[in-house]
Amino acid sequence: MILSIESSCDDSSIAVTEIATGKLLYHKKISQELEHAQYGGVVPELASRLHVEALPKILQECRPYFPSLKAVAVTNEPGLGVTLVEGVMMAKALAVALSIPLIGVNHLIGHIYSLFIEKEARLPLTVLLVSGGHTQLMEVEGIDTVKTVARTMDDSFGESFDKVAKMMHLGYPGGPVIETLAKNGDAFRYNFTVPLHQSPKIAFSYSGLKNAVRLAVEAANEKEYADIAASFQRVATAHLIQKLKKYFKAHPPRCFAIVGGASANRYLREQVQEMLKPFGATLLLSELRYCSDNAAMIGRAAIEMYHKKAWSRVENLHVNAQSTL
Ligand code: KG4
Ligand code: ZN
Repeated sequence: MILSIESSCDDSSIAVTEIATGKLLYHKKISQELEHAQYGGVVPELASRLHVEALPKILQECRPYFPSLKAVAVTNEPGLGVTLVEGVMMAKALAVALSIPLIGVNHLIGHIYSLFIEKEARLPLTVLLVSGGHTQLMEVEGIDTVKTVARTMDDSFGESFDKVAKMMHLGYPGGPVIETLAKNGDAFRYNFTVPLHQSPKIAFSYSGLKNAVRLAVEAANEKEYADIAASFQRVATAHLIQKLKKYFKAHPPRCFAIVGGASANRYLREQVQEMLKPFGATLLLSELRYCSDNAAMIGRAAIEMYHKKAWSRVENLHVNAQSTL
């Protein structure tokens, strides 16, 4: 079995996965959303202190598995430095105490492997990662052959939902509240410009749209927020769809996946499904409970790394907050 730990942002999570079968034997996540909601975003020092309380509490429950552990895996990059270090120190202590290998897992690779929790991996794959920290398009051939072909130039897709929710004083995280609010709104009431629609570049950008929404929010009353939310969601998604279409013209996908916290968005899922029809490509999605940050995806990725003996020495595994793929 592999014990995996995730603490890259505001979720403390630990999983135990059986190496031979990929079966998830234990999985728990303590989310800090409520604590950060009053600040409209994640406060790193507060997140770090909450991991210090939550991680040992969860680890206690995993004690029965300790004699069967063959490795301990942990997210060591990218994320918030002060929260990553909490998981990494716990993983190092376990690796030393139990004399088992240590595996450092990239959080973005974890999101990709969230598709394959308790499943066989299906590769090669074109993947769009949409989370709070990232918006990037990748060609994935294997765990160590991931090529990023487009990324955001400023804010990420999920982050733009968080910022719009903050403008409307709707708390954190913004994705689910904006999606719910948008259901009762007129998506064509506000004619926001689709970012980079005249640019041939395949890249993403959300800061211009965010500023346009800010002006609309400032000029509106609360009754109009649903229309703003729906119009924003339509345009934010149209931007992804336009760029994906452009990329697919030259690189038609056989199999396409959306991963990351914001891949839970139903409107985005429907639009992507529709866009893929002419390409005849299959759409893979993670189960809803595995879209946002969790240790099960880290454990799934770690199984691949375990088989490749991609282990780290305890003194060599570093936290890399800014790492990119
Ligand atoms: O992957 P994740 O849990 O954490 C990061 O690695 O960043 O993603 C969290 C992000 C947040 O920005 C949140 O607002 C967004 O995913 N999100 C959504 C939805 N659910 C979560 N964005 C849009 N629509 C949703 N339904
Ligand atoms: Zn994430």
